[in-house]
Amino acid sequence: MIFFSINQKKYNFASEFLDELGEVKQSYNKLPLIEYCELKGYKIPHYCYHKKLSIAGNCRMCLVELKNSPKPIVSCAMSARTCLPNSELYTNSPLVKKARENIMEFLLLNHPLDCPICDQGGECDLQDQAIFFGFTKKRFYTYKRIVTDKNLGPVVKTVMTRCIHCTRCVRFANEIAGVEDLGVFGRGMHSEIGTYIDKTFQSELSGNVIDLCPVGALTSKPYPFLIRSWEVKQFNSIDFSDGFGLEIQVFLKNNSIVKILPGYNSFDRSNNWITDKTRFSFDGMFSPERKLLKTLESDNEKSLFWDNLFEELIYIIYCHDHLNKHYLKFDCLILVFSSTISLEVLNLLLLISKKYSFLKLRKSESLKINNDLETNFILNSTTNKQKLLLSNLCLFLGVNSRYEGSHLNLKFRQRYLKGNFKFFSLGSLMNLTYPVSHIGSNINTLKTIVEGNNFVCQNFKNSVNPLIICGSELFRRKDSNNISVLLEALNSYGNLSTKTWNGVSVLNSSINDVGINVLSYFLSVSEKDLKNSFGIYFLNTSLSTGNIKKLIEVKLLGYFKVEKTLTHLFIEQTNTTHNLLRSKVNSIYPACNYRNLPNNVFFETSGTYVNTEGFYKKKLKLITSIQKPKDDWYTFRKFLAYSKRLKFVSQPQLTNKIHFNCNNLFNFKNFICFSYYAVKSLNNLTFYLNTQISAPFNKTKQKFNTPSKKIFNTKLKLWLDDFYLGGKDTYSCMSSTMAACSIMFRYEATNFKF
Ligand code: SF4
Ligand code: SF4
Ligand code: FES
Repeated sequence: MIFFSINQKKYNFASEFLDELGEVKQSYNKLPLIEYCELKGYKIPHYCYHKKLSIAGNCRMCLVELKNSPKPIVSCAMSARTCLPNSELYTNSPLVKKARENIMEFLLLNHPLDCPICDQGGECDLQDQAIFFGFTKKRFYTYKRIVTDKNLGPVVKTVMTRCIHCTRCVRFANEIAGVEDLGVFGRGMHSEIGTYIDKTFQSELSGNVIDLCPVGALTSKPYPFLIRSWEVKQFNSIDFSDGFGLEIQVFLKNNSIVKILPGYNSFDRSNNWITDKTRFSFDGMFSPERKLLKTLESDNEKSLFWDNLFEELIYIIYCHDHLNKHYLKFDCLILVFSSTISLEVLNLLLLISKKYSFLKLRKSESLKINNDLETNFILNSTTNKQKLLLSNLCLFLGVNSRYEGSHLNLKFRQRYLKGNFKFFSLGSLMNLTYPVSHIGSNINTLKTIVEGNNFVCQNFKNSVNPLIICGSELFRRKDSNNISVLLEALNSYGNLSTKTWNGVSVLNSSINDVGINVLSYFLSVSEKDLKNSFGIYFLNTSLSTGNIKKLIEVKLLGYFKVEKTLTHLFIEQTNTTHNLLRSKVNSIYPACNYRNLPNNVFFETSGTYVNTEGFYKKKLKLITSIQKPKDDWYTFRKFLAYSKRLKFVSQPQLTNKIHFNCNNLFNFKNFICFSYYAVKSLNNLTFYLNTQISAPFNKTKQKFNTPSKKIFNTKLKLWLDDFYLGGKDTYSCMSSTMAACSIMFRYEATNFKF
């Protein structure tokens, strides 16, 4: 009978052991021995081994003893299948203990006695393992080598004397980040980790090497000497910087954020790699420029309290309502929200806008997405790690997945490394860390593909389960409806869409783009809205939003005129001064009543979002704001409460469309979420829509018909050229760390160095 034992416990290999391993038994021959032992609860010390990186076998700390083997074996470099069926394994025998002590002695040979001033102290693998597995005496007294520190960029601090040459950082750079900047130089005692020529580690994922490094050789540069691991509290939250809302761990000390690390992803059953923006841009939220009520008071030269403010606002609205009646016209208040708004606030706004006709909701972005079907605006499940294995071709349509959705780009890179996968891109030239064939930058190329006149058609024809990834910015174009028609045509001719496969996906770059589309269809703010309104209310809208910029500039050029006789209301609810629209108010409304309502930042409020993959993402309030800003929902609830005191007279048939007369808070909560839950229940059934409904006409009849839709003969340009300061979130552009990263990125990218 074949059997093996771990620490003298014997298993019948064929039955007991595999049963105990449960679901991993299918892939047991692929797993390294170290992982098997860990699954059984036997901890084996290791430095160079990491589940997501290739097997290294160079630190020798994971030695175990195999029966009849003359020497200890390296468990991370040996698959379980090779050794387990025919032998017995010991993880804690005297030989193993001695081997570990010796290895530890070598590791500490050149290591400085730096723990008190080392940023890794308290969470250092070397420290822990030296205590548990090390030897109490040392035999080397004379000499410790010194290695010069390298400049790896604005986020990674190096103290290379502490490096133990596990090469995790090198393998991360080569395998995951796809930037072959790091390497090992020299041999034996002269080995060093570095960049060969003097340059920084140019990757948006560079901060991950801080987590990977088992010692204090690579630590965080923006926040040195700030914390010890026992001083901080850890909380789970989500990322705000892109459309995925990845899980993160936020570490707090004295009510302020000191560190952000990747969180546990229950889908992948591992920790994600997060970008430098996710990890370090939180300082933008708490920048000294943040608008607080104190500054608001001095601005208005009188003490404004929230209650006075609401009362004043509601009287202004009431006054305009009366004027509407006398002038026999219908001006309203335009509320402009950005795509980072939470579902709760949006539901509440929707409720207010349904109740009162004076309020109109508008999106700040002008994306013309057809939200009839959920599959029109989400990243389909076909982009899952498992499903990607079933595909062998992908076309990027005006999207830079590396900057707009780094999580997706990593999946594509892993798929590319597995082989037999082709990438094509229509849009600007870009480096996605894997080879991509650029087929053009003009949108007419898409037309030629649909017509069958492009060389890519053959690839599509021969491909299995092809994918098309569109950037959400594609829907900003005036001809975006026609592009959707082209994509549908491509869908019906080719093998993009079958009963089990939907190849067209949209990559959204904001955390709640999908949530907004799921909830309802909202128009974008336009010149017409500005003309026919008595006021405008910007909620978390920044000047960097393309549509807002355009509106202001069009006004400046005198393309439209706003009546000067009336004083307009201009309310801004934001927590930033950097992008404050106040300076531009006069260009939109010549005479206005300006009010700023400071609100809380991302980590100071709770909220729910639907990410670009269609998953719920919930975050809780982590920090208490010590100043006076309020949550968005609080402001609108107050607004609603104050508005009840008044009776609006213009267009009374439109007001009071919805009544809610109950003091029970839970009923109210259910009420405001009614529209979302109604749609959510539909979501689960969406796959029926994909798979069972077919077009009522015969697709074959359409074949080789040239689409008659007109599309503009213009280039698809990338909207996000600076990853660090660009993007849809309002915080990174105020972060000093991101500014330093951006400077470094631009400096490295230019040919003209100074
Ligand atoms: Fe101490 Fe670890 Fe820092 Fe080395 S890397 S000085 S062992 S805390
Ligand atoms: Fe390993 Fe850190 Fe040295 Fe890189 S710098 S080889 S991660 S110890
Ligand atoms: Fe096995 Fe380093 S963990 S050799």
